[in-house]
Amino acid sequence: MIVVRGGRPLSGRVRISGAKNAVLPAIVASLLTDEPLILKRVPRLLDVETQLALIEALGKRVEREGDVITIRGEAGVATAPREIVSRMRASFLCLGPLLARLGEAHVPLPGGCVIGARPVDLHLAGLARLGADIRVDEGVVHAAGALHGGEVWLRYPSVGATEQLLLAGATIPEEVEIVNPAREPEVMDLVRLLVAMGAEVKALEDRFIVRGGRLGEAEHAVIPDRIEAGTYLLAGTITGGEAELADVHPEHLTALLAKLEECGAEVEVSGDRVRAAAPRGWRGIEVETAPYPGFPTDLQPQLTAFLSLARGRSIIWERVFESRFGHVGELIRMGARITLQGQAIAVEGVEELRGTEVAATDIRAGAALVLAGVAARGVTRIRGVEHLRRGYENMEEKLARLGAKVWVEEASVT
Ligand code: EPU
Repeated sequence: MIVVRGGRPLSGRVRISGAKNAVLPAIVASLLTDEPLILKRVPRLLDVETQLALIEALGKRVEREGDVITIRGEAGVATAPREIVSRMRASFLCLGPLLARLGEAHVPLPGGCVIGARPVDLHLAGLARLGADIRVDEGVVHAAGALHGGEVWLRYPSVGATEQLLLAGATIPEEVEIVNPAREPEVMDLVRLLVAMGAEVKALEDRFIVRGGRLGEAEHAVIPDRIEAGTYLLAGTITGGEAELADVHPEHLTALLAKLEECGAEVEVSGDRVRAAAPRGWRGIEVETAPYPGFPTDLQPQLTAFLSLARGRSIIWERVFESRFGHVGELIRMGARITLQGQAIAVEGVEELRGTEVAATDIRAGAALVLAGVAARGVTRIRGVEHLRRGYENMEEKLARLGAKVWVEEASVT
């Protein structure tokens, strides 16, 4: 477990790593070519290891040097191992590429963070529109057939489904139109990579138009992780202190920065740096999560921790996932006053949080508890450090740079 001794204002500078949710689809994009793919600024994360293990199981070879990985070889295996896909949802993205390259694919339904039902119906219906013959049998998706162009309408701008269709479309020499696509920065990073590999992608107001074919080698630097960035900005401000981030794309943080300012925090942006400071006494606000450029669901738990120490009441609507509230009960155990009302969280700000033993249920719930821990009086022990390892590179070291007292302990078996 990760242990935090809190209660002192933090202050310092942190360098932000490459984005987890951009590098995971980028690794899968290597399946679209037999030529080398070089990815730069790749963070050391459990989820990245899982995705690399997946493509290796499918026939690829991976070399790593620092934060650069080179992926070579041919993917000749059409069956994704259940043991890998059950660990992480982003591994399901191999379905379209395998089908496109090999004419068949067998991929178990994915696991991943328990934050809602998280079906894959949009992925499957989309591929079916492009000619795939899809059957789900005993928890495994079997897809076969030759893909062709077509128009796919997404009833919701799903990040994963958009990526699945971009990856598949990049191999199809006819036009694939994705109507109502997700436009998260991580999706746009995948678009840039596919274009570098040789696909044509037009991003229009309401749709993406993809025309693909035989893709070649590419070199691609992954964008900075806006969720990691937001987490450290909130780590500084939740203590009544400050954090400065280097190597970020501030335009990806607009929704968070606007909300921090609405609370009364001070925000400064200059080039690829952002700084935020919040003297104690920030105000409660209303927020709803939404697809980009709305407020990201991946920062909702961390913002909830921050608002639990605000002056007055906050209301947070979770509109993307139906049960992303694993942090709420644990924050209450630390002294927060929160009530859950359907998809909304009502937070009555309190004067202080108190350290205790809590459990992380997923990556971002874990991050919210770490933030509560750095602000709380006393020591907070957070079980489930493996969730944090999935999504945060060198978390203890980065928090220490901000002046936090954080260390890892073996959890005792109870
Ligand atoms: N949905 C469907 N059917 C589908 C796909 C999605 O109903 O076929 C629903 C989901 O159940 C959910 C909503 O659509 O209610 C949004 O899901 P989306 O597909 O957009 O999310 P995702 O691709 O599963 C990615 C990130 C998540 C992030 C969401 C939303 C990756 C690897 N994961 O998930 O990141 O929360 O987009 O922005 O890119 C995290 O990093 O902690 C994390 C959970």
